[in-house]
Amino acid sequence: MRVRTAVQGALCGALFAAQSASGLQLDISSANSIKQAAKTIANGMLNYYNGEDPGGIPGLLPPPYYWWEAGAMFGSLIDYWYYTGDDTFNRVTTDGILFQVGPDYNFMPPNQSKSLGNDDQAFWGLAAMSAAEVKFPNPPEDQPQWLALAQAVFNSQALRWNTEACGGGLKWQIYSFNVGYNYRNTISNGCFFNLAARLGAYTQNETFFRWAERSWDWVVEPSIGLVADNYRVYDGTHDTANCTNLVRVQWSYNAGVYLLGAATMWNQTTGADQEMWRARVQGLLDATIVFFYKGTNVMFEVACEPRGNCNVDQRSFKAYLGRWMAATTKVAPWTHDTIMPFLQQSATAAATSCSGGDSGTECGMRWTTGNWDGQLGVGEQMSALEVIQSNLIDNVQGPVSNSTGGISTGDSNAGTTGDDLIYTAPITTGDRAGAGIITAMLLVFIVGGAWWMVR
Ligand SMILES: *[C@@H]1O[C@H](CO)[C@@H](O)[C@H](O)[C@H]1NC(C)=O
Ligand SMILES: *[C@@H]1O[C@H](CO)[C@@H](O)[C@H](O)[C@H]1NC(C)=O
Ligand SMILES: *[C@@H]1O[C@H](CO)[C@@H](O)[C@H](O)[C@H]1NC(C)=O
Ligand SMILES: *[C@@H]1O[C@H](CO)[C@@H](O)[C@H](O)[C@H]1NC(C)=O
Repeated sequence: MRVRTAVQGALCGALFAAQSASGLQLDISSANSIKQAAKTIANGMLNYYNGEDPGGIPGLLPPPYYWWEAGAMFGSLIDYWYYTGDDTFNRVTTDGILFQVGPDYNFMPPNQSKSLGNDDQAFWGLAAMSAAEVKFPNPPEDQPQWLALAQAVFNSQALRWNTEACGGGLKWQIYSFNVGYNYRNTISNGCFFNLAARLGAYTQNETFFRWAERSWDWVVEPSIGLVADNYRVYDGTHDTANCTNLVRVQWSYNAGVYLLGAATMWNQTTGADQEMWRARVQGLLDATIVFFYKGTNVMFEVACEPRGNCNVDQRSFKAYLGRWMAATTKVAPWTHDTIMPFLQQSATAAATSCSGGDSGTECGMRWTTGNWDGQLGVGEQMSALEVIQSNLIDNVQGPVSNSTGGISTGDSNAGTTGDDLIYTAPITTGDRAGAGIITAMLLVFIVGGAWWMVR
Protein backbone atom coordinates (compact mmCIF):
# COMPACT_ATOMS: atom_id res chain seq x y z
CA MET A 1 0.00 0.00 0.00
CA ARG A 2 1.17 3.49 -0.72
CA VAL A 3 1.09 6.74 1.13
CA ARG A 4 -1.14 9.16 -0.64
CA THR A 5 -3.50 11.99 -0.04
CA ALA A 6 -7.20 11.43 0.22
CA VAL A 7 -8.09 12.07 -3.37
CA GLN A 8 -10.96 9.87 -4.36
CA GLY A 9 -14.41 9.78 -2.99
CA ALA A 10 -16.94 12.52 -2.90
CA LEU A 11 -18.98 12.10 -5.99
CA CYS A 12 -21.66 13.54 -3.71
CA GLY A 13 -23.99 16.40 -4.27
CA ALA A 14 -26.33 16.29 -7.18
CA LEU A 15 -25.91 12.57 -7.77
CA PHE A 16 -26.79 11.91 -4.18
CA ALA A 17 -30.03 13.86 -4.37
CA ALA A 18 -31.06 12.24 -7.65
CA GLN A 19 -31.46 8.74 -6.29
CA SER A 20 -32.11 6.67 -3.23
CA ALA A 21 -35.61 5.26 -3.39
CA SER A 22 -34.50 1.78 -4.52
CA GLY A 23 -31.52 0.26 -2.78
CA LEU A 24 -30.33 -3.17 -1.81
CA GLN A 25 -32.72 -5.45 0.03
CA LEU A 26 -31.30 -7.53 2.84
CA ASP A 27 -32.97 -9.79 5.36
CA ILE A 28 -30.14 -10.95 7.57
CA SER A 29 -32.16 -13.95 8.81
CA SER A 30 -32.50 -15.37 5.28
CA ALA A 31 -29.58 -17.15 3.62
CA ASN A 32 -31.15 -16.53 0.21
CA SER A 33 -31.47 -12.85 0.85
CA ILE A 34 -27.83 -12.65 1.97
CA LYS A 35 -26.74 -14.52 -1.16
CA GLN A 36 -28.70 -12.25 -3.46
CA ALA A 37 -27.36 -9.14 -1.79
CA ALA A 38 -23.81 -10.49 -1.98
CA LYS A 39 -24.20 -11.19 -5.69
CA THR A 40 -25.46 -7.70 -6.43
CA ILE A 41 -22.57 -6.16 -4.53
CA ALA A 42 -19.97 -8.47 -6.08
CA ASN A 43 -21.23 -7.55 -9.54
CA GLY A 44 -21.01 -3.89 -8.61
CA MET A 45 -17.44 -4.43 -7.44
CA LEU A 46 -16.43 -6.20 -10.65
CA ASN A 47 -17.81 -3.33 -12.71
CA TYR A 48 -14.56 -1.61 -11.77
CA TYR A 49 -12.45 -4.50 -13.01
CA ASN A 50 -11.36 -4.44 -16.65
CA GLY A 51 -8.76 -7.22 -16.53
CA GLU A 52 -10.92 -9.34 -18.80
CA ASP A 53 -11.64 -6.64 -21.35
CA PRO A 54 -9.71 -6.35 -24.60
CA GLY A 55 -6.43 -4.61 -23.74
CA GLY A 56 -6.96 -5.20 -20.02
CA ILE A 57 -4.41 -6.98 -17.83
CA PRO A 58 -5.79 -9.85 -15.76
CA GLY A 59 -5.44 -9.24 -12.03
CA LEU A 60 -5.16 -5.46 -12.15
CA LEU A 61 -7.68 -2.85 -11.13
CA PRO A 62 -7.48 0.47 -12.96
CA PRO A 63 -6.15 3.57 -11.17
CA PRO A 64 -6.62 4.82 -8.50
CA TYR A 65 -6.56 1.27 -7.18
CA TYR A 66 -3.19 -0.17 -6.30
CA TRP A 67 -2.09 -3.68 -7.10
CA TRP A 68 -2.60 -5.04 -3.61
CA GLU A 69 -6.29 -4.15 -3.58
CA ALA A 70 -6.93 -6.42 -6.53
CA GLY A 71 -5.40 -9.27 -4.52
CA ALA A 72 -7.68 -8.34 -1.65
CA MET A 73 -10.63 -8.22 -4.03
CA PHE A 74 -9.94 -11.73 -5.32
CA GLY A 75 -9.74 -12.81 -1.70
CA SER A 76 -13.24 -11.46 -1.20
CA LEU A 77 -14.42 -13.40 -4.27
CA ILE A 78 -12.91 -16.61 -2.89
CA ASP A 79 -14.91 -15.90 0.24
CA TYR A 80 -17.94 -15.22 -1.96
CA TRP A 81 -17.78 -18.71 -3.44
CA TYR A 82 -17.12 -20.23 0.00
CA TYR A 83 -20.15 -18.57 1.52
CA THR A 84 -22.63 -18.76 -1.34
CA GLY A 85 -21.53 -21.78 -3.39
CA ASP A 86 -22.07 -19.61 -6.49
CA ASP A 87 -19.16 -20.13 -8.89
CA THR A 88 -20.01 -17.22 -11.19
CA PHE A 89 -16.79 -15.37 -10.39
CA ASN A 90 -14.42 -18.33 -9.97
CA ARG A 91 -12.85 -18.22 -13.40
CA VAL A 92 -12.19 -14.48 -13.26
CA THR A 93 -10.70 -14.97 -9.80
CA THR A 94 -8.40 -17.84 -10.73
CA ASP A 95 -7.26 -16.16 -13.95
CA GLY A 96 -6.60 -12.85 -12.20
CA ILE A 97 -4.58 -14.40 -9.40
CA LEU A 98 -2.53 -16.69 -11.62
CA PHE A 99 -1.63 -13.84 -13.95
CA GLN A 100 0.01 -11.94 -11.08
CA VAL A 101 2.13 -14.70 -9.50
CA GLY A 102 5.37 -13.36 -11.03
CA PRO A 103 8.38 -15.33 -12.30
CA ASP A 104 9.16 -16.90 -8.89
CA TYR A 105 5.52 -17.79 -8.20
CA ASN A 106 5.53 -15.64 -5.06
CA PHE A 107 3.46 -12.62 -6.10
CA MET A 108 6.34 -10.35 -6.98
CA PRO A 109 5.56 -9.45 -10.59
CA PRO A 110 8.29 -7.16 -11.97
CA ASN A 111 5.70 -4.58 -13.06
CA GLN A 112 4.99 -3.88 -9.40
CA SER A 113 8.59 -3.52 -8.18
CA LYS A 114 8.47 0.24 -7.99
CA SER A 115 6.07 0.08 -5.08
CA LEU A 116 6.01 -3.51 -3.86
CA GLY A 117 5.59 -3.78 -0.09
CA ASN A 118 5.49 -6.89 2.07
CA ASP A 119 1.86 -6.07 2.79
CA ASP A 120 1.01 -5.89 -0.92
CA GLN A 121 2.58 -9.25 -1.57
CA ALA A 122 0.86 -10.63 1.53
CA PHE A 123 -2.66 -9.73 0.46
CA TRP A 124 -2.25 -11.92 -2.59
CA GLY A 125 -0.66 -14.64 -0.47
CA LEU A 126 -3.56 -14.50 1.95
CA ALA A 127 -6.00 -14.88 -0.93
CA ALA A 128 -4.14 -18.04 -1.95
CA MET A 129 -4.17 -19.24 1.68
CA SER A 130 -7.93 -18.77 1.86
CA ALA A 131 -8.34 -20.64 -1.40
CA ALA A 132 -6.48 -23.62 0.08
CA GLU A 133 -8.44 -23.47 3.35
CA VAL A 134 -11.86 -23.37 1.73
CA LYS A 135 -11.07 -25.85 -1.05
CA PHE A 136 -11.51 -23.30 -3.79
CA PRO A 137 -11.14 -25.25 -7.06
CA ASN A 138 -7.47 -25.91 -7.79
CA PRO A 139 -5.64 -24.18 -10.65
CA PRO A 140 -4.75 -26.34 -13.66
CA GLU A 141 -2.00 -28.82 -12.78
CA ASP A 142 0.67 -27.04 -14.80
CA GLN A 143 0.07 -23.85 -12.80
CA PRO A 144 1.24 -22.96 -9.27
CA GLN A 145 -1.13 -24.26 -6.62
CA TRP A 146 -2.83 -22.25 -3.83
CA LEU A 147 -0.91 -23.70 -0.90
CA ALA A 148 2.43 -23.43 -2.68
CA LEU A 149 1.71 -19.77 -3.49
CA ALA A 150 0.97 -19.02 0.16
CA GLN A 151 4.15 -20.85 1.20
CA ALA A 152 6.13 -18.89 -1.38
CA VAL A 153 4.99 -15.59 0.10
CA PHE A 154 5.79 -16.79 3.59
CA ASN A 155 9.22 -18.14 2.64
CA SER A 156 10.28 -15.02 0.80
CA GLN A 157 9.15 -12.84 3.72
CA ALA A 158 10.79 -14.97 6.41
CA LEU A 159 14.07 -14.29 4.61
CA ARG A 160 13.42 -10.57 5.06
CA TRP A 161 13.13 -10.73 8.85
CA ASN A 162 15.35 -7.81 9.71
CA THR A 163 17.51 -7.52 12.83
CA GLU A 164 19.62 -4.60 11.62
CA ALA A 165 17.48 -2.42 13.87
CA CYS A 166 14.55 -2.82 16.25
CA GLY A 167 15.54 -6.33 17.26
CA GLY A 168 13.52 -7.88 14.41
CA GLY A 169 10.41 -7.43 12.35
CA LEU A 170 9.63 -6.88 8.71
CA LYS A 171 10.12 -3.63 6.94
CA TRP A 172 7.18 -2.25 4.99
CA GLN A 173 8.91 -2.04 1.64
CA ILE A 174 10.96 -4.78 0.05
CA TYR A 175 13.27 -2.67 -2.09
CA SER A 176 15.48 -0.01 -0.52
CA PHE A 177 14.74 2.44 -3.32
CA ASN A 178 11.06 2.68 -2.42
CA VAL A 179 9.58 5.25 -0.07
CA GLY A 180 8.66 3.53 3.18
CA TYR A 181 11.67 1.25 3.27
CA ASN A 182 12.50 2.50 6.77
CA TYR A 183 9.00 2.04 8.11
CA ARG A 184 8.03 -1.14 9.93
CA ASN A 185 4.31 -1.16 9.39
CA THR A 186 1.98 -3.30 11.36
CA ILE A 187 0.00 -4.68 8.47
CA SER A 188 3.12 -6.21 6.90
CA ASN A 189 4.05 -7.83 10.19
CA GLY A 190 0.44 -8.77 10.94
CA CYS A 191 -0.06 -10.46 7.57
CA PHE A 192 3.14 -12.43 8.10
CA PHE A 193 1.94 -13.54 11.53
CA ASN A 194 -1.52 -14.41 10.24
CA LEU A 195 -0.13 -16.34 7.28
CA ALA A 196 2.39 -18.21 9.43
CA ALA A 197 -0.30 -19.31 11.89
CA ARG A 198 -2.61 -20.48 9.10
CA LEU A 199 0.13 -22.28 7.19
CA GLY A 200 1.03 -24.00 10.44
CA ALA A 201 -2.57 -25.06 10.91
CA TYR A 202 -2.83 -26.29 7.34
CA THR A 203 0.47 -28.19 7.16
CA GLN A 204 1.27 -28.96 10.82
CA ASN A 205 4.84 -27.92 10.04
CA GLU A 206 6.25 -26.48 13.29
CA THR A 207 8.45 -23.98 11.48
CA PHE A 208 5.39 -21.83 10.77
CA PHE A 209 4.31 -21.79 14.39
CA ARG A 210 7.79 -20.79 15.54
CA TRP A 211 7.70 -17.87 13.11
CA ALA A 212 4.21 -16.88 14.23
CA GLU A 213 5.47 -16.80 17.83
CA ARG A 214 8.59 -14.86 16.92
CA SER A 215 6.56 -12.34 14.97
CA TRP A 216 4.00 -11.95 17.78
CA ASP A 217 6.68 -11.64 20.46
CA TRP A 218 8.30 -8.87 18.47
CA VAL A 219 5.20 -6.71 18.01
CA VAL A 220 4.22 -6.96 21.67
CA GLU A 221 7.76 -6.28 22.90
CA PRO A 222 7.20 -3.18 25.10
CA SER A 223 10.00 -1.27 23.37
CA ILE A 224 8.22 -1.86 20.02
CA GLY A 225 4.57 -1.74 21.05
CA LEU A 226 2.89 -2.20 17.67
CA VAL A 227 0.43 -4.29 19.64
CA ALA A 228 0.07 -2.52 22.98
CA ASP A 229 -0.49 -4.21 26.32
CA ASN A 230 -4.16 -3.20 26.10
CA TYR A 231 -4.22 -4.94 22.69
CA ARG A 232 -4.67 -1.80 20.69
CA VAL A 233 -2.97 -2.31 17.38
CA TYR A 234 -1.09 0.70 16.05
CA ASP A 235 0.02 1.56 12.53
CA GLY A 236 3.80 1.28 12.51
CA THR A 237 7.16 2.56 13.64
CA HIS A 238 10.35 3.90 12.04
CA ASP A 239 13.49 1.81 12.09
CA THR A 240 15.70 4.88 11.58
CA ALA A 241 14.77 5.63 15.21
CA ASN A 242 15.22 1.97 16.18
CA CYS A 243 11.43 1.69 16.39
CA THR A 244 11.06 4.06 19.32
CA ASN A 245 8.58 6.43 17.63
CA LEU A 246 5.32 4.61 17.34
CA VAL A 247 2.65 5.93 14.97
CA ARG A 248 -0.49 5.39 17.02
CA VAL A 249 -3.18 5.37 14.38
CA GLN A 250 -5.55 2.42 14.65
CA TRP A 251 -6.85 0.79 11.47
CA SER A 252 -9.50 -1.89 11.49
CA TYR A 253 -7.56 -4.32 9.30
CA ASN A 254 -4.62 -4.37 11.72
CA ALA A 255 -6.93 -5.42 14.55
CA GLY A 256 -8.50 -8.05 12.32
CA VAL A 257 -5.30 -9.58 11.02
CA TYR A 258 -4.00 -10.17 14.57
CA LEU A 259 -7.37 -11.42 15.80
CA LEU A 260 -7.53 -14.27 13.28
CA GLY A 261 -3.83 -15.09 13.62
CA ALA A 262 -4.13 -15.32 17.40
CA ALA A 263 -7.35 -17.32 17.17
CA THR A 264 -5.61 -19.78 14.85
CA MET A 265 -2.77 -20.10 17.37
CA TRP A 266 -5.35 -20.75 20.09
CA ASN A 267 -6.83 -23.46 17.88
CA GLN A 268 -3.44 -25.09 17.37
CA THR A 269 -2.14 -25.08 20.94
CA THR A 270 -2.98 -26.89 24.16
CA GLY A 271 -2.59 -26.38 27.88
CA ALA A 272 -0.85 -23.29 29.16
CA ASP A 273 0.04 -22.11 25.65
CA GLN A 274 -3.58 -22.28 24.68
CA GLU A 275 -4.61 -20.30 27.76
CA MET A 276 -2.08 -17.66 26.78
CA TRP A 277 -3.47 -17.42 23.26
CA ARG A 278 -6.99 -17.32 24.60
CA ALA A 279 -6.18 -14.25 26.67
CA ARG A 280 -4.63 -12.63 23.61
CA VAL A 281 -7.64 -13.40 21.41
CA GLN A 282 -9.97 -12.03 24.07
CA GLY A 283 -7.86 -8.90 24.45
CA LEU A 284 -7.72 -8.28 20.71
CA LEU A 285 -11.44 -8.91 20.36
CA ASP A 286 -12.26 -6.49 23.17
CA ALA A 287 -10.02 -3.88 21.58
CA THR A 288 -11.95 -4.03 18.27
CA ILE A 289 -14.73 -2.08 20.00
CA VAL A 290 -13.05 1.11 18.82
CA PHE A 291 -14.13 0.18 15.29
CA PHE A 292 -17.82 0.08 16.15
CA TYR A 293 -19.72 3.32 16.10
CA LYS A 294 -20.56 4.50 19.58
CA GLY A 295 -23.42 2.68 21.17
CA THR A 296 -24.04 0.50 18.11
CA ASN A 297 -22.55 -2.66 16.66
CA VAL A 298 -21.95 -0.96 13.32
CA MET A 299 -18.42 -1.04 12.01
CA PHE A 300 -16.67 2.19 11.10
CA GLU A 301 -13.14 3.23 10.24
CA VAL A 302 -12.48 5.37 13.26
CA ALA A 303 -9.30 7.06 12.05
CA CYS A 304 -10.72 8.59 8.89
CA GLU A 305 -14.43 7.96 8.44
CA PRO A 306 -15.76 10.59 10.84
CA ARG A 307 -13.81 13.32 9.07
CA GLY A 308 -14.47 11.87 5.63
CA ASN A 309 -10.83 11.60 4.65
CA CYS A 310 -10.30 7.89 4.11
CA ASN A 311 -7.98 7.32 1.14
CA VAL A 312 -8.55 4.72 -1.54
CA ASP A 313 -6.83 1.94 0.42
CA GLN A 314 -8.51 2.79 3.70
CA ARG A 315 -11.96 2.59 2.13
CA SER A 316 -11.51 -1.15 1.90
CA PHE A 317 -10.20 -1.88 5.41
CA LYS A 318 -13.56 -2.78 6.96
CA ALA A 319 -13.72 -5.65 4.46
CA TYR A 320 -10.80 -7.35 6.19
CA LEU A 321 -11.94 -6.77 9.75
CA GLY A 322 -15.27 -8.33 8.74
CA ARG A 323 -13.58 -11.18 6.88
CA TRP A 324 -11.25 -12.03 9.75
CA MET A 325 -13.81 -11.65 12.53
CA ALA A 326 -16.02 -14.18 10.75
CA ALA A 327 -13.11 -16.58 10.20
CA THR A 328 -12.21 -16.24 13.89
CA THR A 329 -15.55 -17.77 14.90
CA LYS A 330 -14.57 -20.97 13.06
CA VAL A 331 -11.20 -21.53 14.72
CA ALA A 332 -12.07 -20.17 18.16
CA PRO A 333 -15.77 -21.06 18.47
CA TRP A 334 -16.03 -19.47 21.92
CA THR A 335 -15.82 -16.05 20.20
CA HIS A 336 -18.87 -16.78 18.03
CA ASP A 337 -21.58 -15.31 20.22
CA THR A 338 -19.59 -12.17 20.86
CA ILE A 339 -18.72 -11.62 17.21
CA MET A 340 -22.00 -12.38 15.43
CA PRO A 341 -24.05 -9.39 16.67
CA PHE A 342 -21.34 -7.11 15.30
CA LEU A 343 -21.41 -8.81 11.91
CA GLN A 344 -25.20 -8.89 11.83
CA GLN A 345 -25.78 -5.27 12.66
CA SER A 346 -22.90 -4.09 10.51
CA ALA A 347 -24.32 -6.05 7.58
CA THR A 348 -27.79 -4.60 8.00
CA ALA A 349 -26.36 -1.11 8.24
CA ALA A 350 -24.03 -1.66 5.28
CA ALA A 351 -27.00 -2.75 3.17
CA THR A 352 -28.78 0.53 3.86
CA SER A 353 -25.75 2.30 2.41
CA CYS A 354 -26.05 0.31 -0.82
CA SER A 355 -28.52 2.57 -2.54
CA GLY A 356 -26.27 4.79 -4.62
CA GLY A 357 -24.75 5.22 -8.05
CA ASP A 358 -26.30 4.55 -11.42
CA SER A 359 -27.54 1.11 -10.39
CA GLY A 360 -29.15 2.42 -7.21
CA THR A 361 -27.42 -0.41 -5.34
CA GLU A 362 -23.86 0.85 -5.04
CA CYS A 363 -22.55 0.88 -1.52
CA GLY A 364 -21.31 3.88 0.42
CA MET A 365 -18.49 4.39 2.88
CA ARG A 366 -20.51 5.27 5.97
CA TRP A 367 -22.86 2.62 7.30
CA THR A 368 -23.98 4.75 10.21
CA THR A 369 -26.20 7.23 8.36
CA GLY A 370 -29.04 4.95 7.27
CA ASN A 371 -28.50 5.90 3.65
CA TRP A 372 -25.97 6.16 0.85
CA ASP A 373 -23.41 8.81 1.74
CA GLY A 374 -22.47 9.74 -1.82
CA GLN A 375 -19.21 7.78 -1.89
CA LEU A 376 -18.51 4.73 -3.99
CA GLY A 377 -15.71 2.50 -5.21
CA VAL A 378 -14.09 -0.91 -4.97
CA GLY A 379 -13.34 -0.50 -1.26
CA GLU A 380 -16.92 0.45 -0.47
CA GLN A 381 -18.23 -2.54 -2.45
CA MET A 382 -15.74 -4.97 -0.94
CA SER A 383 -16.38 -3.88 2.63
CA ALA A 384 -20.13 -4.30 2.27
CA LEU A 385 -19.64 -7.62 0.46
CA GLU A 386 -17.42 -9.15 3.13
CA VAL A 387 -19.47 -8.01 6.08
CA ILE A 388 -22.76 -9.13 4.51
CA GLN A 389 -21.62 -12.53 3.19
CA SER A 390 -19.85 -13.21 6.53
CA ASN A 391 -23.29 -13.72 7.99
CA LEU A 392 -23.37 -17.10 6.22
CA ILE A 393 -20.47 -18.31 8.35
CA ASP A 394 -22.65 -20.70 10.34
CA ASN A 395 -23.63 -22.47 7.11
CA VAL A 396 -20.10 -23.33 6.00
CA GLN A 397 -17.29 -25.61 7.12
CA GLY A 398 -14.23 -24.16 8.87
CA PRO A 399 -10.78 -24.09 7.24
CA VAL A 400 -9.47 -27.48 6.20
CA SER A 401 -5.92 -28.73 6.63
CA ASN A 402 -3.75 -31.39 5.04
CA SER A 403 -5.25 -33.91 7.45
CA THR A 404 -8.89 -32.75 7.36
CA GLY A 405 -9.75 -32.80 3.69
CA GLY A 406 -7.42 -30.21 2.17
CA ILE A 407 -6.89 -30.65 -1.57
CA SER A 408 -4.18 -28.12 -2.35
CA THR A 409 -0.62 -29.18 -3.13
CA GLY A 410 2.19 -27.39 -1.35
CA ASP A 411 5.86 -26.78 -2.03
CA SER A 412 8.11 -26.23 0.98
CA ASN A 413 10.80 -24.62 -1.12
CA ALA A 414 8.53 -22.22 -2.97
CA GLY A 415 9.68 -18.61 -2.91
CA THR A 416 13.20 -19.32 -1.73
CA THR A 417 14.87 -18.59 -5.02
CA GLY A 418 14.95 -15.37 -6.97
CA ASP A 419 16.48 -11.97 -6.56
CA ASP A 420 14.42 -10.95 -3.54
CA LEU A 421 16.76 -13.15 -1.51
CA ILE A 422 19.55 -10.63 -1.63
CA TYR A 423 17.94 -8.14 0.69
CA THR A 424 18.47 -9.92 3.97
CA ALA A 425 20.14 -13.26 3.45
CA PRO A 426 23.56 -13.18 5.11
CA ILE A 427 26.23 -13.01 2.44
CA THR A 428 28.68 -15.88 2.59
CA THR A 429 31.97 -15.99 0.71
CA GLY A 430 30.42 -18.27 -1.85
CA ASP A 431 27.72 -15.72 -2.53
CA ARG A 432 29.96 -12.75 -3.11
CA ALA A 433 30.50 -13.25 -6.81
CA GLY A 434 26.75 -13.44 -7.23
CA ALA A 435 26.24 -10.35 -5.12
CA GLY A 436 28.22 -8.18 -7.54
CA ILE A 437 26.01 -9.29 -10.35
CA ILE A 438 22.96 -8.68 -8.27
CA THR A 439 24.12 -5.17 -7.37
CA ALA A 440 24.49 -4.50 -11.07
CA MET A 441 21.00 -5.86 -11.63
CA LEU A 442 19.68 -3.65 -8.90
CA LEU A 443 21.22 -0.64 -10.59
CA VAL A 444 19.46 -1.56 -13.79
CA PHE A 445 16.31 -1.79 -11.73
CA ILE A 446 16.78 1.70 -10.32
CA VAL A 447 17.71 3.20 -13.65
CA GLY A 448 14.81 1.32 -15.18
CA GLY A 449 12.53 2.83 -12.56
CA ALA A 450 13.80 6.32 -13.31
CA TRP A 451 13.28 5.70 -16.97
CA TRP A 452 9.68 4.87 -16.28
CA MET A 453 9.21 8.09 -14.37
CA VAL A 454 10.72 10.20 -17.12
CA ARG A 455 8.54 8.53 -19.65
C1 LIG B 1 3.28 -5.97 -17.11
O1 LIG B 1 3.15 -4.83 -17.98
C2 LIG B 1 3.14 -5.15 -19.37
C3 LIG B 1 3.12 -3.84 -20.13
O2 LIG B 1 2.00 -3.10 -19.77
C4 LIG B 1 1.94 -6.03 -19.68
O3 LIG B 1 1.95 -6.40 -21.04
C5 LIG B 1 1.98 -7.28 -18.81
O4 LIG B 1 0.81 -8.05 -19.03
C6 LIG B 1 2.08 -6.89 -17.32
N1 LIG B 1 2.19 -8.08 -16.52
C7 LIG B 1 1.51 -8.26 -15.39
C8 LIG B 1 1.78 -9.53 -14.65
O5 LIG B 1 0.71 -7.46 -14.94
C1 LIG C 1 17.08 -1.16 19.32
O1 LIG C 1 15.86 -1.75 19.70
C2 LIG C 1 15.98 -3.10 20.13
C3 LIG C 1 14.57 -3.62 20.36
O2 LIG C 1 13.85 -2.78 21.20
C4 LIG C 1 16.85 -3.17 21.35
O3 LIG C 1 16.99 -4.52 21.77
C5 LIG C 1 18.20 -2.59 21.02
O4 LIG C 1 19.00 -2.56 22.19
C6 LIG C 1 18.06 -1.17 20.48
N1 LIG C 1 19.36 -0.71 20.03
C7 LIG C 1 19.83 0.49 20.34
C8 LIG C 1 21.18 0.82 19.76
O5 LIG C 1 19.24 1.27 21.06
C1 LIG D 1 -10.10 -25.62 15.30
O1 LIG D 1 -10.57 -25.18 14.03
C2 LIG D 1 -11.23 -26.22 13.29
C3 LIG D 1 -11.54 -25.63 11.91
O2 LIG D 1 -12.53 -24.66 11.98
C4 LIG D 1 -12.47 -26.66 14.04
O3 LIG D 1 -13.09 -27.70 13.33
C5 LIG D 1 -12.08 -27.13 15.42
O4 LIG D 1 -13.22 -27.47 16.15
C6 LIG D 1 -11.30 -26.04 16.14
N1 LIG D 1 -10.80 -26.54 17.41
C7 LIG D 1 -11.33 -26.19 18.57
C8 LIG D 1 -10.67 -26.78 19.78
O5 LIG D 1 -12.25 -25.41 18.67
C1 LIG E 1 8.48 -26.60 6.99
O1 LIG E 1 8.32 -25.28 6.49
C2 LIG E 1 9.54 -24.60 6.24
C3 LIG E 1 9.20 -23.17 5.84
O2 LIG E 1 8.48 -23.13 4.65
C4 LIG E 1 10.33 -25.34 5.17
O3 LIG E 1 11.56 -24.69 4.95
C5 LIG E 1 10.56 -26.76 5.61
O4 LIG E 1 11.18 -27.49 4.56
C6 LIG E 1 9.24 -27.43 5.97
N1 LIG E 1 9.50 -28.75 6.50
C7 LIG E 1 8.95 -29.84 6.00
C8 LIG E 1 9.28 -31.13 6.69
O5 LIG E 1 8.18 -29.81 5.04
